Amino acid sequence: MIFYFDKISSTMDIAHILANKGYPHGTVIVAEEQTQGRGRFKRKWHSPKGGLWFSIIFRPENLKTIKAGFLGIIIGFSVLKTLESFLKDIKLNFKWPNDIEYEGKKVAGILLESVYEKELEYIIAGIGINLQVDPEEIKDLKAFSLKNYITIPDKNILLLEILKELEKNLDNFPNNWKAIFEFYKNKFPYIGKEAIIKNKNSKAKVIDITEDGGIVLSINKKIERYEWGGVSLEF
Ligand code: BTN
Repeated sequence: MIFYFDKISSTMDIAHILANKGYPHGTVIVAEEQTQGRGRFKRKWHSPKGGLWFSIIFRPENLKTIKAGFLGIIIGFSVLKTLESFLKDIKLNFKWPNDIEYEGKKVAGILLESVYEKELEYIIAGIGINLQVDPEEIKDLKAFSLKNYITIPDKNILLLEILKELEKNLDNFPNNWKAIFEFYKNKFPYIGKEAIIKNKNSKAKVIDITEDGGIVLSINKKIERYEWGGVSLEF
C-alpha cells in the first residue's frame, strides 16, 4: 500500500503512526514536500518539492536474517542500481554507510529508525533523493540534484522501480549478498582516505569496510571497528 501526501512534517512521522496502528511490512509513505525532514544524527534534511521523499515499514518477521547493516546497504544498492539505469553523463558513488553522492555532494540519503518494545517491533527506512529539486535550492548544502541528469520524467515510476528492485534484492538475500557487497565496495572510493569523525571531532583513516556493513578505521594509530552507521564521517 502506498500513501501519498502533498506536504507533511516527515514521512518518518507518518510511517511510525501507521506502523503502530499495525500497517504491514512494505507499507510506503511518500511526500511531495516535508517541513521537518530529518537525517541521521538528528540532522535536518531539506526536503523541497521535486525530491523523492519516502519511508517504508519493515516487519522483522518478513526480514529473514537481515540486520540493519545489511538492510541499509541493500536499500542503498537498490536505489543506486535503479538510478543508474536512468542516468545520463554522470557516475554516482557511495559514501559509507549509505549516502549516494556525486563528486562529494549528496544525491541521496537513507535513515533507519528501529522501534523496540520487548523485542524489535518494526524498522522504518526513510529514503531521500534530490531528484528534480531546483539546484539553486540546495546549492549551499553540499548536495547535488539529478534534475539535469535523469532521463525519467515521472518520479512515481522511479519510485515503483526502486521498490521492485528492493523487493527482489530482499527476497534473494543472503544468496546475493556477495555480489551486492562487491558492487558497494567498488563504488566506495574512500578506502585509504583521511576522514574527520564528526561526532568525536577527531581524524581517522579508512582501512576497510566489512562484509556485515561495518567500517574499520585507524584512529591515532589504533584500529577501531564501527557497526553500520555507528559513526559520522566527513571527507
Ligand atoms: C541522511 O543522509 O542523513 C538520511 C536522510 C534521509 C532523508 C529521508 S527523506 C524521506 C524520509 N523522511 C525524513 O524525514 N527523512 C527521510
